[in-house]
Amino acid sequence: METTLRKATAADIPALQELIDASVRGLQANDYTPAQMELALQTVFTVDSQLIEDGTYFVVEQNGELLGCGGWSQRKTLCGGDHHAVREDALLDPSQDAAKIRAFFVHPKWTRRGIGSFLLHVAEEAALSAGFQRLEMGATLTGVPLYLREGYRVVERMEVPLKDGVSLPVVRMEKMVAE
Ligand SMILES: CC(C)(COP(=O)(O)OP(=O)(O)OC[C@H]1O[C@@H](n2cnc3c(N)ncnc32)[C@H](O)[C@@H]1OP(=O)(O)O)[C@@H](O)C(=O)NCCC(=O)NCCS
Repeated sequence: METTLRKATAADIPALQELIDASVRGLQANDYTPAQMELALQTVFTVDSQLIEDGTYFVVEQNGELLGCGGWSQRKTLCGGDHHAVREDALLDPSQDAAKIRAFFVHPKWTRRGIGSFLLHVAEEAALSAGFQRLEMGATLTGVPLYLREGYRVVERMEVPLKDGVSLPVVRMEKMVAE
């Protein structure tokens, strides 16, 4: 059956949150504790509606079912959705700053079939078309093997504070896409 790519819309938000929940619980259990996943699902792993408004968030779907999502951003926020405390909506300067690669989640039923890397290529090409020459992200530990394969390098390890003293280890990674 055919899969299609399209931009996410505000109407997708409930289905996107379900996809994110399934992806986190189904695919991150080797990398994060249950407490880290549950707390992050309340903040960091929530839909970022700013990306949808900006037209920089994409979904792959089949028969109306969302299989994966991901995108990029021309704004300063490195990671985290609408319910994450640390947000910086200021616009980046494509000639100096790195575009942010944002919020990739694939449904556990559909993993390792190229959907994550396909969405990553779509986001990278869109950021390149907007004039960016560098890309960066706050990668989950689960995402690191994909991004290493795609030419990103580790810049630093970071801890995103969640709640009750619990934090989420993520990895800042970057890639040059043009000279
Ligand atoms: C990370 C994620 C988006 C990858 O999606 P995906 O559709 O399975 O990725 P792809 O099929 O395009 O994988 C491409 C390559 O990345 C690497 N890769 C992906 N998942 C991997 C894993 N679990 N272990 C090792 N390598 C992996 C492999 O090299 C893979 O190629 P291969 O399958 O031919 O070996 C998916 O695992 C996911 O949604 N994880 C949970 C949410 C999350 O943490 N997202 C990252 C946010 S930064």
